Amino acid sequence: MPRVVITFLTVTVFFSLGFNSVLAENTGTVLITGANRGIGLAIAEKFSESGYLVIGTARKPDAAKELRQLPVRILQLDVTNPASVALLASSLDGEAIDILINNAGMLSVEASEFADVDIDALVTEYRVNALGALRVTQALLPNVLAGKQKVVANISSMMGSQELNTFGCCLGYRASKAALNSFTKTLAVDLAETDIAFVAIHPGYVKTDMNGGQGAITSEQSAAGLFKVISALSKADSGKFYNYDGASMPW
Ligand SMILES: NC(=O)c1ccc[n+]([C@@H]2O[C@H](COP(=O)([O-])OP(=O)(O)OC[C@H]3O[C@@H](n4cnc5c(N)ncnc54)[C@H](OP(=O)(O)O)[C@@H]3O)[C@@H](O)[C@H]2O)c1
Repeated sequence: MPRVVITFLTVTVFFSLGFNSVLAENTGTVLITGANRGIGLAIAEKFSESGYLVIGTARKPDAAKELRQLPVRILQLDVTNPASVALLASSLDGEAIDILINNAGMLSVEASEFADVDIDALVTEYRVNALGALRVTQALLPNVLAGKQKVVANISSMMGSQELNTFGCCLGYRASKAALNSFTKTLAVDLAETDIAFVAIHPGYVKTDMNGGQGAITSEQSAAGLFKVISALSKADSGKFYNYDGASMPW
């Protein structure tokens, strides 16, 4: 076969496959809260490179340098601020969100002695980790209902598991993630007829700012696992608690 014909065929096949795979990969819209750093940033990158349209939220979009390098739409959101959540919802009015990932979270430093623990300060983690995720879910429910996959994935923690609590610590954080787990399960029951899958997921022990860079895995490893689990979720998974590797977690 003449070289010019071979070249033509090669180029044609390359472009057909390339365009087809791009089209096949555009699989839905995902919104990730707290996407400017840590696990949220890595999830945003993973979903984006996998062909999803990604909406990443940040408390300070202008300062979200790494997120701004990605082909994602960035919206402002402080999950504790009702006005900020309402603004997010109104700017997304009428748009479908296939997967909502409630990732934004925080861990407070607590006194090591129980006698010194500031009880009133424990509400801070509850407001962000539990009520924040609930508030965002409530505001964006119409968007998720308009989506195809219909998933609300709450980034919880093994620290929220009662059964796995063998080493104590972190009263406020543990309770806030246990509350998030409870919200996940309750919505799975109360909104069962919506066909939305409400799922809690432990992202692993991940090297991020939250734990001063300690951890067993990187954000990228966590995001790879989370992507595999979350992108495959369906109604049958609603009310479940998973590890980032897909294993079941005890409540
Ligand atoms: N790292 C781990 O080993 C581990 C283990 C189990 C579970 N998790 C969970 O995984 C999620 C991500 O944690 P990470 O390790 O990536 O932590 P991180 O690096 O500290 O990032 C936390 C993210 O949440 C955002 N955030 C905090 N408060 C917020 C608020 N009020 N409104 C909106 N966004 C807020 C932060 O935004 P700013 O940059 O503006 O502060 C940041 O984007 C959290 O829910 C965490 O509890 C982490």
